[in-house]
Amino acid sequence: MPFDINSSIANASTLPSAFYQSPDWFERSKEAIFAKSWQFVGDVDLVKVPGAVHPFVHLDGCLDEPLVLTRDTNDQVHCLSNVCTHRGMLVAESGGNERFLRCRYHGRRFGLDGCFQSMPEFEGVCNFPTAADNLAKVPFGQWGPWLFASVNPSMSLEEMLKPVVDRLGWMPFNEFRLDASRCRDYVVRAHWALYVDNYLEGFHIPFIHAALNQAIDYDNYLVELLPSGVLQLAHAKSDEGIFDLPTSSPDHGQRISAYYYWLFPNLMLNFYPWGLSINVVRPVGHDRTRVSFIPYVWREELRGEGAGADLDRVEREDEVVVEAVHKGLKSRFYDRGRYSVAREDSVHHFHRLIQSAFE
Ligand code: FES
Ligand SMILES: [Fe+2]
Repeated sequence: MPFDINSSIANASTLPSAFYQSPDWFERSKEAIFAKSWQFVGDVDLVKVPGAVHPFVHLDGCLDEPLVLTRDTNDQVHCLSNVCTHRGMLVAESGGNERFLRCRYHGRRFGLDGCFQSMPEFEGVCNFPTAADNLAKVPFGQWGPWLFASVNPSMSLEEMLKPVVDRLGWMPFNEFRLDASRCRDYVVRAHWALYVDNYLEGFHIPFIHAALNQAIDYDNYLVELLPSGVLQLAHAKSDEGIFDLPTSSPDHGQRISAYYYWLFPNLMLNFYPWGLSINVVRPVGHDRTRVSFIPYVWREELRGEGAGADLDRVEREDEVVVEAVHKGLKSRFYDRGRYSVAREDSVHHFHRLIQSAFE
């Protein structure tokens, strides 16, 4: 038990400030937490037609794993290592439409499925080629239009997403469209887990988010702990900006303005009546985090209403407190605090998940 987070919240103390402050814990978190997680890649339009090639860096700034998505001539999508099996050059350096992948360093060729095809000047090399000369296949999966990849998954993608699918499966995810004009990245000068801590509790809403507090019913703010995540349910004070829930929804008849899903460690799926804001919390150091807001619109006409109306304002309000907490944790007089049993069970759950990642 590296952090000694008691399983009983009433007896527990929060993560020690060393976890948030030390570059060493940050380095250890890369393999223990992030390499085992599923990361959002984008949607299927990245590789829309056969021959499409899309190189990307998996969790840029943290895992820094060069990968490439391809769609082969049989219309199959692949997620491959983008590192040449000869001497380690990046294979695809830009996106486009190709018949094969060709490393420009010494000309090694791979099919769009990653299989080795040819290599100049390799006559006389024994036991060549073997499977080790193919580009490594990386676990990936699709849910609705969205693609996820993991370099060393600790659970299946289906298992991770099951609570979301069970509750919100009635939504037509394949009709959701990326609104690229409203994608935004925020750089937060704080440890990534402080950003998550803050996201996971509604406790601070009346103190920090005056406008949001007007829209939601704080006394009816519900939290459900999931095996590897948390759902926060915001009910509306009025009938404005609420979901039109079908009878097939387990929440039919309630005035719900937002479903906030967090999936361990760094994925947030915020569902509003207008659609989905995917937030990805990307650590780029122990004291710096890049948070991407990626909106997918379903019902544009509902955009300006309710809890999901002004996400930029809420984000700026959160950023200010999270950065101030990061400074506070440098103090010699603070190490760890206690949890509110009524309002911080989600933060306690997160800290327990972090603890178990290191066991
Ligand atoms: S590194 Fe790719 S062919 Fe040499
Ligand atoms: Fe907040």
